[in-house]
Amino acid sequence: MKKAWWKESVVYQIYPRSFQDSNGDGMGDLPGITARLPYLRELGVDVLWLSPFYKSPGKDNGYDISDYRDIDPQFGTLADFDVMLAEIHRLGMKLVIDLVVNHTSDQHPWFQASRSSRDNPYRDYYIWRDGVDGGPPNNWGGCFSGSCWTYDDATGQYYLHTFGDFQPELNWENPKVRQEVYDMMRWWCDRGVDGFRMDVISFISKTPGLPDGPVHPGALYGDFGPYVINGPRVHEFLQEMNREVLSRYDLLTVGECAGLTVDQACLYANEDGRELTMAFQFEQSDLDNGEHGKWDTRKIRLTDLKAVLSRWQYGLEGKAWNSLYWCNHDQPRIVSRLGDDSTPILRERSAKALALCLHMMQGTPYIYQGEELAMTNGRFDSLADFRDVESLNAYREMTESGQMDPERMLACLRYKGRDNARTPMQWTAGPNAGFTDGTPWIGVNENCRDINAAEQMGRPDSVYSFYKALIRLRHEHEIIVYGRFDLLLPEDEQLFAYTRELEGERLLAVCNLSGREASFTLPEGFERGELLISSMADTALSGTMTLRPWEAFAVLCGDGA
Ligand code: GLC
Repeated sequence: MKKAWWKESVVYQIYPRSFQDSNGDGMGDLPGITARLPYLRELGVDVLWLSPFYKSPGKDNGYDISDYRDIDPQFGTLADFDVMLAEIHRLGMKLVIDLVVNHTSDQHPWFQASRSSRDNPYRDYYIWRDGVDGGPPNNWGGCFSGSCWTYDDATGQYYLHTFGDFQPELNWENPKVRQEVYDMMRWWCDRGVDGFRMDVISFISKTPGLPDGPVHPGALYGDFGPYVINGPRVHEFLQEMNREVLSRYDLLTVGECAGLTVDQACLYANEDGRELTMAFQFEQSDLDNGEHGKWDTRKIRLTDLKAVLSRWQYGLEGKAWNSLYWCNHDQPRIVSRLGDDSTPILRERSAKALALCLHMMQGTPYIYQGEELAMTNGRFDSLADFRDVESLNAYREMTESGQMDPERMLACLRYKGRDNARTPMQWTAGPNAGFTDGTPWIGVNENCRDINAAEQMGRPDSVYSFYKALIRLRHEHEIIVYGRFDLLLPEDEQLFAYTRELEGERLLAVCNLSGREASFTLPEGFERGELLISSMADTALSGTMTLRPWEAFAVLCGDGA
């Protein structure tokens, strides 16, 4: 396996609007991030990925961009950006920015021009079609509810959007669109950024003819997936982007690839470097979907999770590179989803066990802000506490169509809604968790009194200290980065255990991901191994062990140990 800095890195994701406010407007900003860089340096992460900070009406919190080459005033200025980037580099870290080029905001000047007349030079920057039988051009339903098509009076046609109606889809078939995107990317690279996280990049190529999609049982619309996800020209486009931009710099590039399969990942993130350096898969996050897609409250089965994650470990070995994540700005908090947040002790133990389980695998780990503190899902008493357009639209659609009653839908939003990840970073036990002096744009979790960075940074057995140790271990042991993965006990419903192997060295990770005791027999040789890390202070290695609830540890065993 080829070595690369982005394989050896740990990435930390910042959601700028919820990280640190510096001017009292209740919204995080770039100077706020700059002020908190020493905290991230101390944690030991190598790369920061920032969710969008570009000029935007903010209807999808910045994933609706109206100017790719400027900073939204609520986040600061280009000068603030340059200061932040210089400081990130001075501290020895790198910066990855979010590239949102499947769609723009409807306020982007390209779209304003595009919608103004059918013969405007920008018309073909977006996807316009005539209606059919007085309705939209096809049956596709969007990720934010409703049809994927919105009728525009001015020119009497519909435009396509796989997300909100304010996020018109760019037309990647048009070579001018692609050149505009590459130009803009080079502009950011020349400014000094070290990579891109590519928003829904698996959606950019649509099957010509845009055929109707299958209507799944209970669904109100057709599924665009078969004609949009991993579309016919997506790899051609990314190879072109690679020639035009990526290959000219030394970048970390990670595609957000909804609908990704192992085989597809071997194209997007192939070792040959023709496209991206890695990709995010969503099979693991879809495991608790139900009959209404993500809107459900069921729990993930451990055996299913192991089957999925190990399939990715085996499938990409030597061919492509994995990204490892539990959390991001679109997912609920992992300790509330897979762990146990019911008491402080269980919360910390389960957070550590989950962290160890992920960080000992092969791939580049991503930590989402607050995950290193075991921040939990938010508290949303009523619908009025939610901010996310996806949640609000889904609530309306599901309850108005009679598919779910309001209380049940609220329970689903509380469990799965994206706002769970977006409550402000908990820095201190003080007012608004130290996030802002003003009124926060979304409610601060009142558990900041107990869960905050100030309390955890100096405490050796905190979740923060545990993450710090995991990051340090990855920097110290090549086996954690490059070792071959092998799953143990695939049928066990409590233990997630696996080995790694590299040039005569072996590593064992055993995680009791349950609230009950579990028995485990150490494989040959590990009894005399070196205990690298444990979620408990007093783990003792022995032939057959009884692991306590959420106990997790990793052992290294060298040549002839
Ligand atoms: C991606 C982003 C999500 C956003 C969507 C539309 O999935 O992660 O936050 O809403 O794309 O841009």
